[in-house]
Amino acid sequence: MDQKELKKKFVSLHGDAKISPHGYFSPGRVNLIGEHIDYNGGFVLPCALTLGTYLFASKTTDNFIHLSSLNFDYSAKIHLSDITKKQGDEWVNYPIGVVNEFIKKGMPITGMRFLFAGNIPDGAGLSSSASIEMGTAFAVNDLFDSRIDIIELVKMAQKAENNFVGVKCGIMDQFIVGTGKKDHALFLNCDDLTYDHIPIHLESYKIVISNTNKKRELADSKYNERYNECRKALDIVNQHRRVGHLCSLTLDDFSKIQNSFPDHTLYKRARHAITENQRVKEGARALKNGELKTFGILMNQSHDSLRDDYEVTGVHLDTLVEEARKIPGVLGARMTGAGFGGCSINLVHKESIELFCEKVGHSYKKKTGIKADFYVVDIGNGVKRLS
Ligand code: GLA
Repeated sequence: MDQKELKKKFVSLHGDAKISPHGYFSPGRVNLIGEHIDYNGGFVLPCALTLGTYLFASKTTDNFIHLSSLNFDYSAKIHLSDITKKQGDEWVNYPIGVVNEFIKKGMPITGMRFLFAGNIPDGAGLSSSASIEMGTAFAVNDLFDSRIDIIELVKMAQKAENNFVGVKCGIMDQFIVGTGKKDHALFLNCDDLTYDHIPIHLESYKIVISNTNKKRELADSKYNERYNECRKALDIVNQHRRVGHLCSLTLDDFSKIQNSFPDHTLYKRARHAITENQRVKEGARALKNGELKTFGILMNQSHDSLRDDYEVTGVHLDTLVEEARKIPGVLGARMTGAGFGGCSINLVHKESIELFCEKVGHSYKKKTGIKADFYVVDIGNGVKRLS
């Protein structure tokens, strides 16, 4: 993305050459392992991408929030007194929800102009929404010198999505976008928010993301449904053993109470959360020791559990993953993000990437009629101000 062009566009959009906006970059993310357990108090292992959202912003004194994007036709001008009103299902709800959090905190905001431009494929489950939220939070904090620390900004962005947008997401996406580190994965304990950055040395392997290009239908409502099922499963667990989260249970504890679940679906949801948490811990250890093969096996197990126990994959993701596993040089393949469409992540030997894209792309098209996209990605830094 050409930053100079974007800045020029900002000035022409707002018709005032005297305005000098500040520029920011906020990444997207890919999760290596640890899916659907951030809201169950588990461990996750995401990375920030070098793909993301660029944003130019300036303060105004008119008490209006002006929002435009090069990715969407819809733009908005909202008075601060209307900031609590949701704008249909429009993208502007992400930045508005964040500005609303600053106002709820009593921060003296006087109005702002924003221009966004992202290169994260939309609806692919690579967190374009958390990228917009964190970009907004970082920019507002910087423009008004609010001096809120990054972890608090992460929590505000999550609240914006939970309470304003209405998705009961966990904290993983906002956290990695806020704290990502180049060539490192974030090993985050979503129970107490302690974390560690693990260096990622992939040697001859690369992270390849495959996009189903399948529109994520009803993804938000299905996501909230899984969230609620986990709450119910936790209630059942708590009749036998008091724990704060499903992921506080060990596999051993869980096996002792597995017959107490009157409902097999809730049992499977809980089993996914508990086994996935174990896989993340083993995965982090494997990566620290450079055991990529072990990590690949854990990725495969993660997908299988998300397919069979958590039921968030579907034919498109399953096809991409099954076809990927047939290619020599693939250590592991799994869905990444919320599921119900979106992307899979694959650990592929450099020399197999061309074959991978060709063969997986061909079989996927044959089975689903849709053309998949492939991105060979690098691990980048978290949200920042552009120099
Ligand atoms: C979405 C949510 C995250 C997380 C993942 C699944 O990306 O925003 O909080 O729950 O799904 O792991």
